Amino acid sequence: MRILLSLIFCLINFQLSAQFIPNYDENQVPDFVLPQLLKTENGKQVTTREQWETLRRPEILAAFESQVYGRVPADELSVQFSLLESSRIALNGKAIRKQLAITFTGKSGTHAANLLVYLPKNTTGPVPVFLGYNFYGNHTIFPDERILVSESWVMNNPNNLIFNNKADEKSRGWRAGRWPLLLILERGYGLAVMYYGDVDPDFDDGFTNGIHGVVYEEGQKPAKDEWGSISAWAYGLSAAMDYFGIDPEIDQDRVAVLGHSRLGKTSLWAGARDDRFALVISNESGCGGAALSRRKFGETVERINTVFPHWFCDNFNQYNQNENSLPVDQHQLIALVAPRPVYIASAAGDEWSDPRGEFLSGYYAGDVYKLYGLKVLTRDQMPELNEPEKTGHVGYHIRSGDHDLTYYDWEQFLDFADLHFKQE
Ligand code: GCU
Repeated sequence: MRILLSLIFCLINFQLSAQFIPNYDENQVPDFVLPQLLKTENGKQVTTREQWETLRRPEILAAFESQVYGRVPADELSVQFSLLESSRIALNGKAIRKQLAITFTGKSGTHAANLLVYLPKNTTGPVPVFLGYNFYGNHTIFPDERILVSESWVMNNPNNLIFNNKADEKSRGWRAGRWPLLLILERGYGLAVMYYGDVDPDFDDGFTNGIHGVVYEEGQKPAKDEWGSISAWAYGLSAAMDYFGIDPEIDQDRVAVLGHSRLGKTSLWAGARDDRFALVISNESGCGGAALSRRKFGETVERINTVFPHWFCDNFNQYNQNENSLPVDQHQLIALVAPRPVYIASAAGDEWSDPRGEFLSGYYAGDVYKLYGLKVLTRDQMPELNEPEKTGHVGYHIRSGDHDLTYYDWEQFLDFADLHFKQE
């Protein structure tokens, strides 16, 4: 019976995804009114930072928690760290490497994820760090043979570098193009990465595997307002942040959290819910990330909830084809990061992620940054292609090319981090 039901469910999913025709025509974007950033639920106008921080921000955070990503049952979890491997002469003496197991414990068991950290050598004092997830395992980010290969479930890779959902030596370093480690180190930053599937494998398993499995008993699953995978991944980033707090070589006050695509949705939510992240970067995060849901340009709420039913909390399904009743929109997610600097990156060839919707979120979030007297995006016109706006507290670029995390993107992120971490 269960098999039959899941077959029917798969068929419906397949039908819906097969039928979906995204809108890529700006003239077809519906008229909509965005939920107000600076008016509380009972109609009070917010005019000061204090009112934002004490009245309005908590309302918006609570709405994202209960209606979009889902609340993390953090008080049911504890986190421990253990050093698995380290070297002071990594990368031919250029770097320090540390590999740690982050172990999550709950009433139903334990689950571990690996954190890989590279720090530049010959620096004085604790260093600023970029933290982000990768898609295929830590060993894919650089051809360093000492990086531990992930033992978790991994998505198969079209070139057959990974098959049977198991990574091995063949995939070592193949994603190095997305992680310009040497550039990052030369610019004086550390790089810390985790494999997102170590925290929660990215498939709909009914929340039994990964970190969800340690807090639920058999047959139990998250309540409608509890964490989907994006919240679980965001929580994993906060656990890495806990580690930075106890490593004297890392400056926990200068940690930039970044992510691409689904992991950009994750970095934004991580930065919104945990204000220890001093700078937040979204690369082509699209629907459920930086893009405004009400525009329905490219991917939509219904489509994302259908194809990726495990990413958001159950409550988010109420807004399928019903975006106007969402109590929030994604410009408010960006605003939750204020007054910390936030950078949003789009690509011209990635219409699925709605570059204009991503830009507008950053633009509208500016109203909150202005309460702090900070420099924001000043025009509702997108900048030209490959002309980043990176001198304020809200940064943005749209580059030529497709959906990807490139060297060019990193150069902008590093400049933005320099401005806020090295000159303020
Ligand atoms: C799919 C999905 C997007 C997501 C992307 C990715 O395209 O529809 O929402 O951002 O995968 O993570 O690469």
